[in-house]
Amino acid sequence: MDVDTDWEWDETLFSGTATYYRRGRLPYAPGLTDVVAEVLDLNGRGRLIDVGCGPGTLALSFQDLFSEIVGLDPDPVMIAVAAREAAERGGADKVRWVQARAEDLPAGLGTFTVATIGQSFHWMDRGLVAASIRDMLQPGGALVHISDLKTERRTVDDPAYPAVPHVAIEELVRNYLGPVRRAGQGVLQQGTAGGEAAVLAQAGFTGPERRVVPGGQLLERTVDEVVAGVFSMSFSAPHLFGQRRDEFEADLRRRLRGASRSGRFSERQPSTEVFVWRNCPAELPC
Ligand SMILES: C[S@@+](CC[C@H](N)C(=O)[O-])C[C@H]1O[C@@H](n2cnc3c(N)ncnc32)[C@H](O)[C@@H]1O
Repeated sequence: MDVDTDWEWDETLFSGTATYYRRGRLPYAPGLTDVVAEVLDLNGRGRLIDVGCGPGTLALSFQDLFSEIVGLDPDPVMIAVAAREAAERGGADKVRWVQARAEDLPAGLGTFTVATIGQSFHWMDRGLVAASIRDMLQPGGALVHISDLKTERRTVDDPAYPAVPHVAIEELVRNYLGPVRRAGQGVLQQGTAGGEAAVLAQAGFTGPERRVVPGGQLLERTVDEVVAGVFSMSFSAPHLFGQRRDEFEADLRRRLRGASRSGRFSERQPSTEVFVWRNCPAELPC
C-alpha cells in the first residue's frame, strides 16, 4: 500500500458511508459518458470492470455502452446499494457485483475491454493493482481514471442561497475527530498519495489522453444532502464518531441552519477529469 507508509487499509474505511453516498456526493459532470464513449469509440459491445465501484456510480452510468459489466468493491453495503440501484433501473442481468479488494484481482473475472477507476485508486496498492488490470485488459483496451477536477473553486456567488460552509464543516469534524485525517482505524499523516501517472506508466500503460468534462452548473443543496455528503466521506464516516455520532449530526445541522435560514445552499457542479491509459502491447501499437 503506498498511501502513507504508516497507514494500513482495513475494511472499515468506508463503513456506513454507502447509504449516504448517492444523496450526499455531487455527481460527475453531465456529459462524462458521452466523452468517454467518444474517446474509446464505445458501441454497446465489450466488457467493463469498474474497480472500487462504490454504489455503482460509474458502472451504472456506462450500462448502455457495454454488453457486460462487473463492479468490484470491498465494502458489502456499497455492493448491496449498487445491486439495488441496478435492479431498480432495469438491465441488472448484464451487471455483476463482486465484493473484493482490487488487490485480489484477477479473481477469475476474465478479460475486459475497459477498466474504470473513479476516485478510489489512491486507496489501493496501486502498482500491484495497475499490473493486474493491465494483464486483464485485452490488447488495445483502456484503463480510464476518473475524478473531480481538484483545481476548481468550489464556492459560488449566488444571490439565491449561501455557499456550503465547507471550512466550518471541516473545523467541526476536526473538533470531534482530531487534527489529523482519519481513514478506517488509522490516520493519514501525509494525506493520500498522488503521482498516478508514474505508477501507471511503470505498469506499462501508454498515455495518458486527458479530457476535462466541464461542470460549473449551479446546484441547489439541502441541509440533508450536505449532512449526507459529510457522512459519505471516509474521513468523516459515521463509525468514526462512535457514541458521539448523533451529537455530531445535531451540531452539524445546527451550524448549517445557522448558515442558511432557508436550509438551502448553492454549490458548483465540479468538472470531471478523465485520464485514458491504453494497453498497447509491442505487437499491437495503439
Ligand atoms: C470515493 S468512493 C468512489 C466510488 C465510485 N468509484 C465513484 O466514483 O463514485 C471509493 C471506493 O473505493 C473503495 N475501495 C477502497 N479501497 C479499495 C480497494 N483496496 N480495492 C477496491 N476498492 C476499494 C471503497 O470501498 C469505496 O467504495
